[in-house]
This record gives sequence, C-alpha cells and structure tokens, in this order.
Amino acid sequence: MKSTTLVCSLLLTGCLTNESGNLSATTSGDSTHPAERGSPLAELRAACGAQGALLPTATAVHRAPYLQQLTTHSTLIGWVTTEPAGESVEITRPDGEVLTTAGAERRQSAVRTADENQMWTTVDGLEPDTIYCYRVLQDGQPLTERIGFRTAPGADSVRPVRVLAFGDSGGGGSDQLALAAEMLDVPFELIIHTGDVAYDNGTIAQFEDNVFGVYTELFRHLPFYPAAGNHDYETMRGAPFRDVFALPGTEQWYSYDWGPVHFAALDTESPIGPQVEWLAADLAASSLPWKIVYLHKPPYSSGEHGSDLGLRTALAPLFARHGVQLVLSGHDHDYERITPQDGVAYIVTGGGGRGTRPVGTSPFTAFATDVIHYVYFEVSGDQLVLHAIDATGAEFDSVVVPRA
Ligand SMILES: [Fe+2]
Repeated sequence: MKSTTLVCSLLLTGCLTNESGNLSATTSGDSTHPAERGSPLAELRAACGAQGALLPTATAVHRAPYLQQLTTHSTLIGWVTTEPAGESVEITRPDGEVLTTAGAERRQSAVRTADENQMWTTVDGLEPDTIYCYRVLQDGQPLTERIGFRTAPGADSVRPVRVLAFGDSGGGGSDQLALAAEMLDVPFELIIHTGDVAYDNGTIAQFEDNVFGVYTELFRHLPFYPAAGNHDYETMRGAPFRDVFALPGTEQWYSYDWGPVHFAALDTESPIGPQVEWLAADLAASSLPWKIVYLHKPPYSSGEHGSDLGLRTALAPLFARHGVQLVLSGHDHDYERITPQDGVAYIVTGGGGRGTRPVGTSPFTAFATDVIHYVYFEVSGDQLVLHAIDATGAEFDSVVVPRA
C-alpha cells in the first residue's frame, strides 16, 4: 500500500484511477432473499419535522453534529466549531416537549485549523427504542434544525434489528459518492465500518473531507461504530481516528449491545494477543443470543491481500467456541462470502468506494465478486439475513445465517 500512496502523491491521475472500480456486479450469488427497501432517515425526519440541516447562521460549525455511543438510555453528540462558548444541545420529544438542555464540553482533539474546537455533549436519561429530537444551540439560538434519532432497543426487544456495514470507503471519489447515495435506500438503524475509514492516510483533513463530508446526513441521525484499518493508522498510529470518534473502551477494540445483538470491533493494526484475551472474556460475559465481530484484515479472503493466517489462527477457534454467528472484515476491495467455518459465517466487505481489485476463489469461497458495494442485514428472531448491494442499488448476493 505504501507504493500506491507514493504513486498517488506523485501522480494525481494515478490516484484517481485507483479510486474507480466496478459499480455494477457482473455476477450474482444467491438472490432469493431480496431486502425490503426504504429510507433510513424518513421516519426520524418526519417525527422531528425537519431534515436536520445546519442553519445558514451556523457559519462557525465546521463539522456538523453527529451521534456516537448511542445506547438504550444515552448518547454522545459531537461537532466542530470555531465559537465554542455558549454552545449546548437541546433534547425534545417529537411533539416539542423540552426534556433537557445539556452543556457542551471542549476536548483536546485533532482539528484542521488552530481556531477549531472539538465539542462533545453527553445526553442521559433516555428511554430505549424511542425517537427524540436534538438541536445544537448557541446562547439559546439554534444552529441546526431539529435532528431525529432513535435510542437503541433493549436486550428483550423482539423487533428486527437492521444494520449497514461497509469498508475501505475511499478518498471522496465518485464511486464512494455513488454508493453513499444508494445507502439511503435501505432502512438501517446502525452503521458499522470494517476499517480504512479515511483514505489515504487517516489525517484529520481526510476525515473531514472523505468521511464527515460524505456521510453527514447519516451521521447526524444514526450511530456509527467503525473498526480502524491500516490506512487509518498511517497518521500518528490512528490518533485522529480515535479523536474524531468517541468509541467505547480503549477506542481501539471495544464492544456494545444493540437489542439482542452483541457487537465486538477488533483492531487488526495493533497486536492481537491482548485482544484475544479481552474478546474471550467479553464474549463469555454476554448472554445475548446474537454475537457479531468485525475487524479490518480478513481471517478468510481470496482477494489481493488474501487470508491473514495469524488472525485466523488466533481468532477462529474463539469465534466458534463462543457462538459468534457472523464475522465481517474488509481490506480486500471486493465482496466475498465464505462457506461457514465451524458454524461461523464470514463476509469480506471492502468495496465501500476505494476502487475494486480482482478476487479469486479458494476452497472456502461460497461467492466472490469485485464490485463497489455495501452489505445490509436484518436480525430477527432466530435468523439473520444479509444482503450485498452494489453502487447501482442492485442486490447481487444474500445469505441466511441461523442463530445456532
Ligand atoms: Fe486495508
């Protein structure tokens, strides 16, 4: 990857070529379980009566508000501003009843210019699976329209859980934007990322332009839980990644619950030994019926980089022993569905916008193709149904993953 970066910095045209991939899948796997379509934002916007945009007066806000660590009862809301004094967040019910106004705290953080400030507000005391509206205020005056969000469902929730996952999402090129537009056609409530979030090097400017600048609308309404990739680690070993996101635990590897699903994100750019120990305890401590793990480098892959055998050796037995049903990874810029290994489903989803690369097949390959895509899955009762959707909006693969 180093040589690619070098070519990019020397030759802009080479860089742009590297961004482009196949927008449309030329082959299909299993298309017998098409996803239900619908906007992920429509209900939230209708409830709060607004799109949630920045107001024209909010010239001081350089990064629009976004949700982090959304749980059953709380959330963090972050933004970047040049005028930190007097800023707060107002929480209302959809009918307008004001529940609280919480002050904002400025935190030391990577920012693009010296006058920018990273702000965070913690909101507590919320109820599970409930729609609220927030807006950022300055001296009591709104800087944003009302922005709708829904808290996480509780562990005993029986409604389906809907998740968007993608990886290797690009440097702001047209493929990334085409796929981002298609994401607005499936009704997810939670976003996970399999790493390489900010191309090329995980700098603060690349997070602003290629991440927050692209997914602004999604991030202000919906929680985002990324795993770090090798590109994110190219600047200060991932310090900007950990600054712009406020993730649980060490922020390098962490877990959280969403309804009946326990999610764990690993950091393949840090030594795996301590994570193996942590993950074994973390999975053993969860009594939830569903366990999903995601990480950047793939334990199984037939793509350009191929399987990371060290990770496979360290982690695959652990996944099987603790009843993990699904493992998602990225790094290879393709889609690959692996034949279940010891009862565990593995998916490579590394086609989020940074070009595509040819993918081969291996004895463990169930279906593979090199296409710009995201995956979307619904967890409902005893089954999970995963859909792979390309940058034209066409579903080209699906798979049913049983709970047991
Ligand atoms: Fe990577």
